[in-house]
Amino acid sequence: MRAPNDELKGKVAIVTGAAQGIGYAIAHRYAAEGASVVIADINAHGAAEAAAKIAEDGGRALAVPADVGLPADVDRVVDTAVDTFGTVDILVNNAGDVSTLRHFLDGDEQWWDNMIRTNLTGHYLFIRRVANIMVAARGGTIINMSSGGANRSHRGAVAYDASKGAIEAMTRSLAIELAPYGIRVNALVPGLIATHPAHLAPAARKLRDETVPLGRGGRADDLAGPAVFLASEDAEYVTGICLVVDGGVLVQQRPPQVEVFGLDKYPRIPGSLFA
Ligand SMILES: NC(=O)c1ccc[n+]([C@@H]2O[C@H](COP(=O)([O-])OP(=O)(O)OC[C@H]3O[C@@H](n4cnc5c(N)ncnc54)[C@H](O)[C@@H]3O)[C@@H](O)[C@H]2O)c1
Repeated sequence: MRAPNDELKGKVAIVTGAAQGIGYAIAHRYAAEGASVVIADINAHGAAEAAAKIAEDGGRALAVPADVGLPADVDRVVDTAVDTFGTVDILVNNAGDVSTLRHFLDGDEQWWDNMIRTNLTGHYLFIRRVANIMVAARGGTIINMSSGGANRSHRGAVAYDASKGAIEAMTRSLAIELAPYGIRVNALVPGLIATHPAHLAPAARKLRDETVPLGRGGRADDLAGPAVFLASEDAEYVTGICLVVDGGVLVQQRPPQVEVFGLDKYPRIPGSLFA
């Protein structure tokens, strides 16, 4: 990981779902890059702990407990950000339900509604509030959190994958509609990121990680650098993209274990995965 470099000095960022996992990694890096960060999470205790850890490491962070699917909570987060830090320059819509797996035939309306409310409506509500602030400021940047499931499906995740497909379409539409106001809208598309180790048995995890072209499973921190780039001035001409951060999984036709030209045919070069 490269050393922080004041890429976001003086900026104010809201990161949702930042009590843990990918959101926390992004919030922590943003603070290290000089941003003031508002952590909005339904887990009040976790959010407070995350903010305290960032402060302990020398950053500026504030926790605001909130359910991203409730308009009143979203208003409270944005109002608190503006009252405390003066504005909102960066919104990272990261909060999502990654746990509720269900076969389609076992699903009901509540399962569907909850998933769409948290993963998709939560993004919409935050963007609606923050866009007005950014329009007045003639600038700002919004990062939505998609998933490989937007393009290639997970089992047990029809509602989840549908929400992520919608997030990618919404990202492109908003990029066009908000471009005239100097607001950039992009999405991050994480691959297999180990934020819930309990989801997979160690043997299954090892097998899964071996299918990643870059040779390892993803870590929450792998999203931090790309999230800084998309929010920074280096990306001032980048809008409407879905930036895939997955070690090469999405562009791979088949995993090496079932590939005709298998890894055993690769030259054994020192320093490579086969050294
Ligand atoms: N981990 C992965 O492999 C992976 C892959 C692709 C996409 N993603 C996406 O990245 C994002 C973060 O994933 P993660 O693995 O870090 O998840 P995580 O479960 O570790 O963290 C999610 C956070 O969101 C919070 N949250 C959940 N519902 C909320 C709500 N209604 N309001 C406010 N906060 C809420 C949780 O309390 C938690 O702190 C999600 O949008 C997820 O879909 C993750």
